[in-house]
Amino acid sequence: MGSRFHIINARIVNEGRIFSGSVAVENDRILAVYEDSIPTLDESIEEIDAAGKLLVPGVIDCHVHFREPGLTHKADLSTESRAAVAGGVTSYFEMPNTLPNTITLELLEEKFRLAEVKSLPNFSFFLGASNDNIVEIVNADPKTVCGVKVFFGASTGNMLVDNISNLEDIFRLSPIPIAAHCEDESLIRLNSQAMRDEFGDEIPVEMHPVIRSAEACYRSTKLAVNLAQKYNTRLHITHLSSARELDLLDNLQSLAQKQITAEVCPHYLWFYDEDYIRLGTRLKVNPSIKSVEDRSALLQGLINGKIDIISTDHAPHLLTEKAQSYFKSPSGTPLVQHSLPAMMEFVHRGKLSLDMLVEKMCHAPAVCYGIENRGFIRPDYFADLVLIDPDRSWTVSGENILYKCGWSVFEGVTFHSTITHTFVNGNLVYQDGRFSDTIKGKRITFNR
Ligand code: DOR
Ligand code: ZN
Repeated sequence: MGSRFHIINARIVNEGRIFSGSVAVENDRILAVYEDSIPTLDESIEEIDAAGKLLVPGVIDCHVHFREPGLTHKADLSTESRAAVAGGVTSYFEMPNTLPNTITLELLEEKFRLAEVKSLPNFSFFLGASNDNIVEIVNADPKTVCGVKVFFGASTGNMLVDNISNLEDIFRLSPIPIAAHCEDESLIRLNSQAMRDEFGDEIPVEMHPVIRSAEACYRSTKLAVNLAQKYNTRLHITHLSSARELDLLDNLQSLAQKQITAEVCPHYLWFYDEDYIRLGTRLKVNPSIKSVEDRSALLQGLINGKIDIISTDHAPHLLTEKAQSYFKSPSGTPLVQHSLPAMMEFVHRGKLSLDMLVEKMCHAPAVCYGIENRGFIRPDYFADLVLIDPDRSWTVSGENILYKCGWSVFEGVTFHSTITHTFVNGNLVYQDGRFSDTIKGKRITFNR
């Protein structure tokens, strides 16, 4: 593909509008956006005819676990990169519970170096908080690091910050946004013991939301919100999973003004507790997937603006690891390839508007974290673009799953939309099942 091309005849979904139009791309940027056709046509310029397709800004997934370094038997930057671009994801933020844990700036820079040669989408990496790395956090560069991840409750990887004075220091001093995993550890321990007393080690996975309860989420999210209010910290609550946590969030301010923001993931909107019977530990994630009432409240919270963004918490594990008994089975489920098609189903069913989907998956992540020049179809912005055929169905199966771990909770599900083209920085990296593996994403920068 040359340095200039046009995407013509598309239905463009951008900034609350849906219109027929064309986009001119030059090098890595969007040159111009036209309503209807491009006025002066130059025969030498390559055209991509997007008739019948939707053109959206690439999805920005602010929460993935790609497992490199140290856990590359589960996933790695190359495999999950391919899954990401096949899923319309053009940028991601990756989490620090790799091995070693990403708790120093030196280890963080090592991850960036790996991604520079391996990643197809654009990337940023979270620094991880521990009980003794405040010096690293204080020295993180807000312009080039997405944020610091704080585990208020232990999850996969055991990166718990469990000392209140350390939490206070982090909230007082962090120059970068705090992304918080909120589950109250002491309550989870109590609930676990009660279940052990009842079932021994063979705890049925349906008990997961009883152990990792809505109350545990509420208590911990409340603590995080209180700390952020006390120190005026930029706080982002990851993976909301319960109705009650919504009481702690506000939708009166615009996203750009908010100090406290939140995300939900497709699995909390799609599944609910009865699905444990069918899917077993494949659906064991932290925080747990809860009741049908929680599920509908989360969709409502997304629509009414209490929840700002959709990210995936893509967390791959091998099926052999997942097949173990309740406590040994690691929490997490892979999602990055299926989040856009899954959310498009909500559009097909009339539960979410198309412009709201684009708002929550493409625009809002950019606003939420202050990403520079991405997330919108605007002149001079990076040409991170995705074409979707909304009338081409496909069924998730072993043959089309791209995760290194090779499975998905969506196996057997038919999606009505297909992602046909993914452009990253003006490069066509994915088209109809084929990849251009030589072209790499860039390090994301921030306006802060
Ligand atoms: O389900 C989860 N999986 N929750 C987490 O907090 C971590 C993640 C993982 O890394 O597997
Ligand atoms: Zn996570």
